[in-house]
Amino acid sequence: MERTREQQFECTEGDWQPTAHGHLLGDVLQRQRLVRGKDVLELGAGVGNHTVLLVRGGARHVVATEITEERLETTRHNVERLCGKDAPVEYRVADWLRTTGKFDLVVTNPPFAKSGKRNRRYFLDKLILDSFRRLKPEGELLFVQSSMADLNLSIQMMLRNGYEPRILAQREEPWREYYFEDPRFLLEAEEVEGGYDERDGQRFEILSVLHGRLRSWSPPAFAH
Ligand SMILES: C[S@@+](CC[C@H](N)C(=O)[O-])C[C@H]1O[C@@H](n2cnc3c(N)ncnc32)[C@H](O)[C@@H]1O
Repeated sequence: MERTREQQFECTEGDWQPTAHGHLLGDVLQRQRLVRGKDVLELGAGVGNHTVLLVRGGARHVVATEITEERLETTRHNVERLCGKDAPVEYRVADWLRTTGKFDLVVTNPPFAKSGKRNRRYFLDKLILDSFRRLKPEGELLFVQSSMADLNLSIQMMLRNGYEPRILAQREEPWREYYFEDPRFLLEAEEVEGGYDERDGQRFEILSVLHGRLRSWSPPAFAH
């Protein structure tokens, strides 16, 4: 397989090249002791940039997912190269949360700007609504998002769905070039309060790493 290098990660054409979003989530994973001894589900593992940090951070077991076998092969290639074949990682092709098991922690940098969905927030919304299905009681959710994806909405949704949200890191970044190439993205940007700031002709977004612990919940007897 022909590969190009992005820092120490190797990838093929079509793989997601890590961006500032992924770097910020990576900084949090390196700085905070969030993974030691935990069973972790990582959604959309890409080149394995976070998978490697999860292994190095002492995760007990990691399930790393990707949408196709080809994408997942890149994850596997990098993790095996950088952490060895015995790293406690299981690689699964899975469509977002459509997989099995219960985990202590779900980690992801969800597709947003290029989600390709009518509802651009689809993967974020699904994550906040349905991650409880993959979490053990008191399990944790950790993800990164842009202010362009409406931070307040994610916080509201987390509260509504039983999470205690905390912002673990924030960083301002200039807009990525491809944002300007999508007319619908430009229109949607105007609808998001606090979505971006413009200074000296340059647009900036704020990236946030959100963490939430799922409060325990017993459905009432009348639930159907
Ligand atoms: C924003 S990229 C993040 C990649 C990597 N985790 C990082 O931070 O650099 C989102 C990743 O999700 C994957 N993906 C897209 N749709 C998916 C789906 N339905 N289920 C699982 N992964 C998906 C993409 O292939 C891509 O690697």
